[in-house]
Amino acid sequence: MELVTTREELATARAALSGTVGVVMTMGALHEGHETLLRAAREQADHVLVTIFVNPLQFGPNEDFDRYPRTLAADLEVCRRAGADVVFAPSRDEMYPEGEPRVRVNPGRLGEELEGQSRPGFFHGVLTVVLKLFQLTRADLAFFGEKDYQQLTLVRRMARDLDVPVRVVGVPTVREPDGLALSSRNRYLSEPERAAALALSAALRAGVEAAEQGRDAAGVLAAAHRAFGAGTPGAQLDYLVLTDADLEPGPVSGPARLLVAAWVGNTRLIDNMPVRLAPRS
Ligand code: PAJ
Repeated sequence: MELVTTREELATARAALSGTVGVVMTMGALHEGHETLLRAAREQADHVLVTIFVNPLQFGPNEDFDRYPRTLAADLEVCRRAGADVVFAPSRDEMYPEGEPRVRVNPGRLGEELEGQSRPGFFHGVLTVVLKLFQLTRADLAFFGEKDYQQLTLVRRMARDLDVPVRVVGVPTVREPDGLALSSRNRYLSEPERAAALALSAALRAGVEAAEQGRDAAGVLAAAHRAFGAGTPGAQLDYLVLTDADLEPGPVSGPARLLVAAWVGNTRLIDNMPVRLAPRS
């Protein structure tokens, strides 16, 4: 496995890879969720390229850029174990040599909703770095987690709308045995906060079960809200919504998505699950 930190080194390492290249983009602090993306890439592409970069563009002024965990040595070990060929871990100056870029990708209406509403400019920052990394890595396949469902949806949309020659592959969310979705931010949680954080997955599970019992959209949302409030207190709901599978607005039926965001102490957590609603009669 080769570690590269400059765009020239990356270009040389990339040129040496023949066959298909799968990229897994990360901000480091790698866990079993990231590892699952790496394994999917290993299975579906001839070579695996991992990027590790804590992207300042996607953090708001009061967010956790400075305290975001940086664990490069351990991350490299995870990449090696998972069979990565190349790891690209650039500095901030390497990615943004002229400071913050003046031109950014506009995520459109969906970028202003849900996460975008609570975190203005977030998806401009995400899509800008993802597009740059698509250009620099020239990957054939790109693996993104369903954990960040709005991000996955917008990256897919960007690839289609802007003709990026890459196939975007979604990978299901990896969870702790008790349901908590793995996240680099979970390490911020104290013991009581960890218990309160279960409200998110509990709400989603209750919604999924309600749908399986034939409840309509309103019934699914009501069940999810009830379950959110029923667990260990301490989670502050930001949003809990039911959308269609593409996050498009309008009446929901058939394959849908239940998404939740909440604050637990100073930590903002998100989660989502697929839901199948009965088709409208
Ligand atoms: P990061 O939060 O490090 O996540 C990197 C990738 O791992 C994303 O595709 C994310 O959805 C996936 N992932 C995280 N937790 C997961 C879990 N529990 N199960 C499955 N997949 C999981 O997302 C980002 O970084 C950044 O926004 C990035 C795309 C790298 C752009 O900076």
